[in-house]
Amino acid sequence: MRHLMSPLDLSVEELDDVLHLAQDIEAHPAKYAHACDGKTLATLFYEPSTRTRLSHEAAMLKLGGNIMGFSSANSSSASKGESVSDTIRTVSCYADICAMRHPKEGAPMVACRHSSIPVINAGDGGHQHPTQTLTDLLTILNLKGRLHNMTIGLCGDLKFGRTVHSLIHALVRYTGIKFVLISPEELKLPDYIRNDVLDKKNVPYKEVVRLEEALPELDILYMTRVQKERFFNEEDYVRMKDFYILDKEKMALAPEDMYVLHPLPRVNEIAVEVDDDPRAAYFKQVQYGVYVRMALILTLLDIHVD
Ligand code: CP
Repeated sequence: MRHLMSPLDLSVEELDDVLHLAQDIEAHPAKYAHACDGKTLATLFYEPSTRTRLSHEAAMLKLGGNIMGFSSANSSSASKGESVSDTIRTVSCYADICAMRHPKEGAPMVACRHSSIPVINAGDGGHQHPTQTLTDLLTILNLKGRLHNMTIGLCGDLKFGRTVHSLIHALVRYTGIKFVLISPEELKLPDYIRNDVLDKKNVPYKEVVRLEEALPELDILYMTRVQKERFFNEEDYVRMKDFYILDKEKMALAPEDMYVLHPLPRVNEIAVEVDDDPRAAYFKQVQYGVYVRMALILTLLDIHVD
């Protein structure tokens, strides 16, 4: 049985297979409309979500399957003190696969040790968000036609932004990738990723504070919001939250073929005026998230469609 805790749970070949399957699903949706007839996905969300929960559910429904779940810890027996391990043992009796989001790093890993169904990590604290990474990779592949030889700018909350951590883990396995890490001093990429992933694998990167300085050399700009829920005090959050605002003026500094991605939700870091720029790809990214989660569900359930 396969689980997905981190993008590294899939080899590069397996990752490429998932992305190509997602492309086939987008091109031929009818072929997959009954692939999961009789199967049920449970979404166990202990933390708020719009995209990740609904896109997993949309993915299962588009595959002909069923969905169940809870969208907050308060509406589950976690509020009475039930452990993650007891919850997953219970859910294993009802569903064939589950997606779990939890504020504590490692909670989905605990779940998969006690589960008899595949568990998808739908985001654990400030740690990993592997299905967002699959979404990001499919978006880059579809827009740029490749996942290698690219300069990727990661901007904003690189300290707490789990989507950034997962994306770095995944992209360093492709050749010719360079990173520009754009953040204020307080929100820099944690040492355990800078040293243990980038330095260890000799991946070229530079750290800058000014977005304007980075823009002209980027193929992809990956914006992130400042993660309010992971700050220890409101004052620090308020000081940091509007540090970066991508607007039309800054977009004028970027190459014509540079795409802007964002895992969303957006707060203030991308001005609404940028949405009409053909390089703004964050809502396309949302759509690709459904196809790639359909591909992931099929892969983890070992369902093959001819
Ligand atoms: N990208 C993402 O994880 O969005 P949600 O928090 O809405 O699921």
